[in-house]
Amino acid sequence: MSNDPKWLAAKAAMAEVRSGMRLGLGTGSTAKHFVDLIGEAVAGGLDVLCVPTSEVTASQARGLNIPLTDLETTPELDLTVDGADEVGPGLALIKGAGGALLREKIVAAVSARMVVIADASKRVDMLGRFPLPIEVNHFGIGATTIAIGKLMTAFGAEGGLKRRLRQDGTPFVTDGGHAILDASFGRIPRPEALATALVDIPGVVEHGLFIGLCKRAYVAGPAGVDVMDG
Ligand code: A5P
Repeated sequence: MSNDPKWLAAKAAMAEVRSGMRLGLGTGSTAKHFVDLIGEAVAGGLDVLCVPTSEVTASQARGLNIPLTDLETTPELDLTVDGADEVGPGLALIKGAGGALLREKIVAAVSARMVVIADASKRVDMLGRFPLPIEVNHFGIGATTIAIGKLMTAFGAEGGLKRRLRQDGTPFVTDGGHAILDASFGRIPRPEALATALVDIPGVVEHGLFIGLCKRAYVAGPAGVDVMDG
């Protein structure tokens, strides 16, 4: 594990964890390492209470005997550690390749501090090369798709909009029971404006632009782990 940049980033973020903390646990292959490390620490006596950002992470955490709660009983968290698909200027992020963006954003927003763990391939000068996940309600999905398509044109998108499918070709469904549309912008020079415009479209439940949420990123490459502060 020690040469895997995702594990190295997760290990570096463990320096932020203290006994007594209420933690948000992210989703994805990098966050999975962090959850494993928390599990080891809990077995060794670390006292934390955690909110998972997906059913997959919840299942992993339960298997490791990590104490879990939810945002109804614990509506404020101290720290959330999660992965990202892109880490851009100002630590603006694209997230949601795993489809957990809604819970990830809710959990990040109620955390006093959110940090990202990633390998160096995730660092970009401008967001948008990675298709932006947009979670939409099934009701009216045709109309919502058209409205997002028009917005993409207005924002100069270089690619198209695709409904996310599972590997077996059936539509992907999020933990919240919604669909995901992946929007290939190519470049997102104005992420704040795009974020505002997206949430104005009825039927859009959430989108994968995380702006102003991430305070620090641990980005691991061949030369070690870079710490980027927002
Ligand atoms: C889950 O919905 C995502 O936001 C992930 O956190 C993100 O895709 C990073 O995943 P990896 O760590 O697997 O690259």
